[in-house]
Amino acid sequence: MVVGKPFLTEEEIQAKVRELAGRISRDYEGREPLMVGLLKGAFMFFSDLVRHIRVPLTIDFITASSYAKADTTGEVKIHCDMREEIEDRDVILVEDIVDTGITLNYLRERMLTRTPRSLKICALLDKKERRIVDVPVDYRGFEIPNEYVVGYGLDYDNKYRNLPYIAIFKRSD
Ligand code: IMP
Ligand code: MG
Repeated sequence: MVVGKPFLTEEEIQAKVRELAGRISRDYEGREPLMVGLLKGAFMFFSDLVRHIRVPLTIDFITASSYAKADTTGEVKIHCDMREEIEDRDVILVEDIVDTGITLNYLRERMLTRTPRSLKICALLDKKERRIVDVPVDYRGFEIPNEYVVGYGLDYDNKYRNLPYIAIFKRSD
């Protein structure tokens, strides 16, 4: 198995992260958002993003994994839930990649039952072609083709998360 050359370079990613952080800083002026990162995939994007946001904020995390099936149900398992209260807060859910949309849709619906003041979604990557469940992505980094990518938090078999860039993952066999 091989990891190809950078599909998105470190510089391209960092420029996009700054752009998203700038938009969030402007949109949330005078407010104090609660930024919720989805682990493990979003850990690197999340930490780069928050360090460029210029409004006061609180952070929290959810560790979840999805077992997407052929149908639209898919199962999402929460391994470790967030600790902050959501009620009346301006929540921004931060994800590495939206693929089928099952994970984000599940977490979003679950959060909405706890009546946040607002709930927005920020995702670095969007594989629109693969979407099964329609989920609103308010802050989107890059729309990418239907390829499996690794690096910058994204894994294959829990590896390659540490790469500072994003590469298309290919099997050599
Ligand atoms: P969804 O529920 O199908 O949208 O799944 C999203 C999750 O699947 C992401 O949070 C990733 O953890 C994982 N995922 C989807 N596509 C890729 C990829 O190309 N590389 C690495 N992980 C991916
Ligand atoms: Mg993920």
